[in-house]
This record gives sequence, structure tokens and C-alpha cells, in this order.
Amino acid sequence: MSDQPQSVTADVFYFSPPEDGSKPYTDINADPLVGKRRNNWNPELHSVEVENLRGKEDSVTLDTAGFQFGHEAAAHKTFTSDAAIEAEYYPESIELVKKITGASRAVVFDHTIRRRRPGEIDDSPQKRQPVPLAHVDQTTASAIARVHRHLPPAEAPALLQRRFQIINLWRPISHPAYDWPLALCDYRSVDPKTDLVATDLIYPDRKGETNSVKFNPNHKWKYLRGMTPEEFVFIKCFDSKTEDNTAVLTPHTAFQDPSTPKDAPFRESIELRLLVFYD
Ligand code: OGA
Ligand code: FE
Repeated sequence: MSDQPQSVTADVFYFSPPEDGSKPYTDINADPLVGKRRNNWNPELHSVEVENLRGKEDSVTLDTAGFQFGHEAAAHKTFTSDAAIEAEYYPESIELVKKITGASRAVVFDHTIRRRRPGEIDDSPQKRQPVPLAHVDQTTASAIARVHRHLPPAEAPALLQRRFQIINLWRPISHPAYDWPLALCDYRSVDPKTDLVATDLIYPDRKGETNSVKFNPNHKWKYLRGMTPEEFVFIKCFDSKTEDNTAVLTPHTAFQDPSTPKDAPFRESIELRLLVFYD
């Protein structure tokens, strides 16, 4: 499409480590009244180029870049009730992931709906917004912990012997996501040894661990401009397969796109997180 920019320049928030050398953490509920986060580390803003893959959707795959676009509408359309999402959208998404990846089993372990609300600081679970911070949802340790948490104890050890992944299924809701789209960083441009820093994620009742991302000028950011609800992206957050140059993960972030049409409605999206197993 000729009226599409080939790439845009955008600000991306990266991570810079705590000055005192302590392990970084993000307390996601430091102020339960407004769900305000607290960190012991500093965000660092960098201007980056984000390539628009519109028309080149097939140039990236889960195993090469760490993310993959698809075009398939969901049968579930409303996304207004968690119970209906679990009853309807979870099962069709499991089938979609298995069909496209060839996995033998996929287990959804949560979902998040995001709606941008300018000026709103409440970040409690029902009011999540786009995340303007480069990150990977899990570390290796927290990916393995997810298997133990969500699969029967009798099955987890055997499942961990074979290939497994964590994949997020992300799609816009109700209208195209021109506003605050999602940028994804090609795994081939990431140096996992230098760019990723394990960061505690402190929930009210437990501790998780995510990977924060340090700036690296080699990073190649990409997005699909104007993604529609009929489109989706698989975001790989973890893969136990490391040989054959397999992409193991994908840093990602929401960003303000300077090419967003002035009248574009605020972004609405849903992401499902799945444990994905192979025979
Ligand atoms: C995700 C994620 C952020 C966003 O799907 O894991 O980080 O802005 N999403 O949609
Ligand atoms: Fe994420």
C-alpha cells in the first residue's frame, strides 16, 4: 500500500539497572488504591526506527524473528466478560495455536484486555493500558515455574523433558490498532547475554520474574501498522529449544506512532498467554 510509511521513528522506553547494583524489581501494586507501580530502576528513553511490515507480514516467523502475524478472525467478538472469554475465546485460541505451530498441546494461563485511557493512572487488572516499556514477559526460571504452576504435578516433569514455549496471542479488539500499536524486536538483533536483565515482578500474593531490556543500537524493531481484529500476532516469550539459531524470545513494547491518523480511536487489545508443548 503506497500510503503506508515503510518505517517510523518512535521513542521506546528501555531499562537501566539500579545504581546500587541490587536486583531490579517492579512492585505492581505498591499503591493498591490506584494500582500504581514502583520500581528500583530507571527507564531510559531511546529514539528507534520501527519498520512497518504491512505487505511483508510473512517475512517474520516464530522460529526466525520470535513473532509471527496471522490473518484469522476470532469467532468470539465481544470481549466484555471474562467468563465468556474463557468459555469461548480460550478454546478457539488453543486450536489456532496448535494449528499454526504444530504443537500437540496448548494451555492458556491468563489473559489481559488493554484499553488506552489517557490521563488514567489506575493500572489495576481491570484497567490495564498499553505498556510503553520494552520487556519479555518471562525469564527461563519463570517460564519453567509456569509449567509447574499450571500443569498437574504428575505431568510437569515429563512435559519439561520435551520442547515447550510460552506464546502470547495478541489481537486488536473492535477496531484497527493505529493508536499506540505494539512494536516487536527481531530476536536476531538481540544479544540475550547483554540485553536482558531478570527483574522481580512483585504481585500482592507472589513473586514472578520478567526480563527487562537494555538498549542496544543493533535492535531491529518492527510492527504491523493498523492491525485489525481479524489479524493477530504470536509473540514468543520463551522457547526451550535453543539449537539451530531458533528465536527464543521477543522483546516488545507499545509505542506512540507518529503516523497514527488524528481521528484513530484509542487502542483496545487482548492478549492470551499460553504454554505450548510439542511431542
Ligand atoms: C504482551 C504485552 C503490551 C501491550 O502482550 O505481552 O506486553 O501494550 N502487551 O499490548
Ligand atoms: Fe508483554
